[in-house]
Amino acid sequence: MAHRFVVAASRLPVDRVEGPDGAACWRPSPGGLVSALEPVMRESGGVWIGWSGDAGPAPGPFRANGLDLVGIGLSAQLVRDYYEGFCNATLWPLYHDVIAPPEFHRRWWEAYVTVNRSFARAAVEQAAPGATVWIHDYQLQLVPQFIREQRGDLRIGFFNHIPFPGYEIFAQLPWRRQVITGLLGADLLGFQRQDGAANFLRACRRAAGLTTRGSTVRVPPDGTLGARDVLAATFPISIDSAALEQIARRDSVRKRAADIRLALGEPDTVLLGIDRLDYTKGIPHRLSAYGELLREGRLGPRVVLVQVASPSRERVAAYRVLRDKVELAVSRINGEHAEVGSPPVHYLHQSHPREEMAALYLAADVMLVTSLRDGMNLVAKEYVACRYDETGALVLSEFTGSADELSGAFLVNPHDIEGLKDAIVRAATISPAEARRRMRLMRKRVCEHDVAHWARTFLGTLTRTPVGEAAEVAL
Ligand code: G6P
Repeated sequence: MAHRFVVAASRLPVDRVEGPDGAACWRPSPGGLVSALEPVMRESGGVWIGWSGDAGPAPGPFRANGLDLVGIGLSAQLVRDYYEGFCNATLWPLYHDVIAPPEFHRRWWEAYVTVNRSFARAAVEQAAPGATVWIHDYQLQLVPQFIREQRGDLRIGFFNHIPFPGYEIFAQLPWRRQVITGLLGADLLGFQRQDGAANFLRACRRAAGLTTRGSTVRVPPDGTLGARDVLAATFPISIDSAALEQIARRDSVRKRAADIRLALGEPDTVLLGIDRLDYTKGIPHRLSAYGELLREGRLGPRVVLVQVASPSRERVAAYRVLRDKVELAVSRINGEHAEVGSPPVHYLHQSHPREEMAALYLAADVMLVTSLRDGMNLVAKEYVACRYDETGALVLSEFTGSADELSGAFLVNPHDIEGLKDAIVRAATISPAEARRRMRLMRKRVCEHDVAHWARTFLGTLTRTPVGEAAEVAL
């Protein structure tokens, strides 16, 4: 089928689950990228190409949850080499400033090329003449080139949801030139922060010897991509703020928030962390700071931390190591400070539906986001969107994209445990007037710059960009 708008993202926006009759069916899946793109897809009636998350043959084109979907099949070997290997044990740690050491294996790279070719093939099949194709994230960096080589008529955008690292780090990648060529198949490359775009432009100059002018890369005529200009610009992603606020305002959700506080023993202060269990999120740093604050008695006796750590990439070694580390730290704190029936850390290694997340956001006095490196961090924005009564405080790592926008947060360097402790104490003891001032500032930003604004700005820039000849835009 020919579509005027094609999205290619690592994941489909649905999960395969077993229905009541035992038959397989599709359920909308949680996650930042999905909640970001779903509203845009519905409005534009496009097609979404992605992987279901399971090993096995492609489910073929289908319709679920009101969206046209095309599944990409991955064999068990490709799941290991492409997804667990190259995506999540090479690129993910490399692009997050080598917090964990990246591994470089030629077999993984070959699997990455193979899977990127499958995505490109599906996009080429689905795209009508002159269609717009929007490719997402680090898993698919070669797709723009593979599409461009077959279809000069398409308008191709790529958005990098995670950081793009400084050149000294990117240069470690044995396939750095191929990745740059892959990305340069697009007309427009979007990054979360200005330093991501600047790092990419520098990598084009240093690794590929290309010329850049302002935010534009000149692609020379001698390659397979033809002489073109490619624009690299900044588009900070956001959330569907109004929809989330509506959920938070529901009576049932407010009641659930009150029940959560009751179940926690009606403490004076509830601290909250909600993360994928990922080493980029700085969960051990947060636990160290909290443990020390309890030992020093600086938060008073009636404080609890709720830490939701949703299971993620559990077959990748670094994630298993992290889980053990986090769970050891949690049980140490609880062992030292719990009284019977009232542990100071409530640790949930679970995923929750959006309603429960909204209730948790409402139940918390202080939200802790302590990422060591994070493309954006949508949890910070979700917390702000839910706090419609302008209460609550946000402790936010300066190494997140959100830190550029949420000026009402208590900004921290999560490596500085003393600074982190001070910020948590200040956030927990903030006056209601000061909390309101800060929250109002943040809410203005999150409500005005929602995900629809992000998508409109990106697509507006892409469609104004003449194919093969990018115009300079100030964003
Ligand atoms: C991050 C990435 C997404 C990814 C998500 C979940 O947000 O930017 O591209 O889909 O994590 O990770 P997973 O490995 O489960 O797809």
